Amino acid sequence: MAPIPDTFDLVPLTRDRLPDVLELDMWAFPTGDSLEDMLTLPSPLSWDRTFGVVEADHPERLVALHASYPFAQCPVPGGRVRAAGLTWVGVHPQWRRRGLLSAMIDTHFAHCRQWGEPVSLLTASEPAIYGRFGYGLATRRLHLTMKRGAALRPVPGSDEISVRFETASLDRHGELVARLHAAVDRPGWVTRETPQLATMWLTDAPIFREGREVQRIAVAERGGEAVGYALFRRKSNWADSGPEGTVGVQELVAADPAVAHALWSRLLDLDLTTEITSGMLADDDPLLSLLVDLRAAKVTVKDNVWARIIDLPAALTARQYQADLAVVFDVTDERLPANAGRWRVTAEAFGAARVERTDAEADLALDIRELGSAYLGGTTLLELAGAGLVKERRPGVLREAAVAFGWPVAPGSSWIF
Ligand SMILES: CC(C)(COP(=O)(O)OP(=O)(O)OC[C@H]1O[C@@H](n2cnc3c(N)ncnc32)[C@H](O)[C@@H]1OP(=O)(O)O)[C@@H](O)C(=O)NCCC(=O)NCCS
Repeated sequence: MAPIPDTFDLVPLTRDRLPDVLELDMWAFPTGDSLEDMLTLPSPLSWDRTFGVVEADHPERLVALHASYPFAQCPVPGGRVRAAGLTWVGVHPQWRRRGLLSAMIDTHFAHCRQWGEPVSLLTASEPAIYGRFGYGLATRRLHLTMKRGAALRPVPGSDEISVRFETASLDRHGELVARLHAAVDRPGWVTRETPQLATMWLTDAPIFREGREVQRIAVAERGGEAVGYALFRRKSNWADSGPEGTVGVQELVAADPAVAHALWSRLLDLDLTTEITSGMLADDDPLLSLLVDLRAAKVTVKDNVWARIIDLPAALTARQYQADLAVVFDVTDERLPANAGRWRVTAEAFGAARVERTDAEADLALDIRELGSAYLGGTTLLELAGAGLVKERRPGVLREAAVAFGWPVAPGSSWIF
């Protein structure tokens, strides 16, 4: 465990230190907004999971910070796992590169073990930071930019969906957004489980707008029942040739294909706009198959959720596998040696799994980082082996294990935490 450097102490933080927390956060993530503006916003933090680093001689001086969100119902292939969402990681520029992040990561891992959370997840400010700590890239996000009026293939029943456009509000829409978002069964699709996170998600404030309008919502209903929604903001732009506004979709949730068709159709045809961006989509989002001409859309791919396996047997038995599996892994894990060594993983397709220590010969050798990448079923073991990151010791086993570790639904998350 990386010790906290001598002249610093690691301390729990309480709500009364919110101004210090925001001040430090503004040093780590520069912003044009003032501390006064930031203080008007509801804090998404869970204070019992928020920790700071202070100068030992001046405990009032906060120099680093990390927190985590409880994702008690994090979807994984065929199940749910208690996960920690590492967040608000920041070190004041004056004290960077002295090992404070390393000490905070080890503290976070110890808390995960203490709280019975076998997996830690994060979305990274810079992809180069977290691999060294055993986080593997587990989900990607696609962003589509489409022209207004982009054609969609028809879906029967779409006409029966009515769509109401409203200004988003916690009071009016909090319950339906929380309910529909939590009903999505996609590995890695963490939801805003705490009241603080749910509140933050539907809070609108001038500092979030960046020249765009207030937060809007399109609510899709079938027979008076809400079956989907899209959060979005438009931005006006008047060019010489006329209006060239844009629509930025923040998050779209649809209970079925007709709802997805109805919501995208409305958003693709808003007056005074010429372009629409999709928000974060998983690799297999239905929009990709709905679009008649995918080539007309500009698609960008980025890293999304990073996964760190904290407790290997608990994590691997929390998920299912899509084929029968019998494999011995030889795992390296410098930071959490309890995960290191040989493990036999056996599972029935879409059934229960067993994970136990073994002295048997290893079939596959890999680092915990790669197991994190493969954990949500999106990155295949074969793909990682192709990059030299998984070694096959018994011929043939790699393909079998790669199939078993996959999942019919691609992993993804709709928001950055
Ligand atoms: C990223 C940040 C938290 C790193 O904190 P830090 O205390 O300087 O990190 P440490 O000193 O513990 O560094 C540990 C290792 O990670 C490396 N590292 C740290 N930040 C890195 C970065 N941004 N890119 C690549 N490597 C990085 C260090 O070089 C060091 O490597 P080493 O072990 O080989 O010497 C800090 O620079 C920061 O707050 N940045 C701005 C906000 C931010 O990006 N936060 C992360 C949010 S997800």
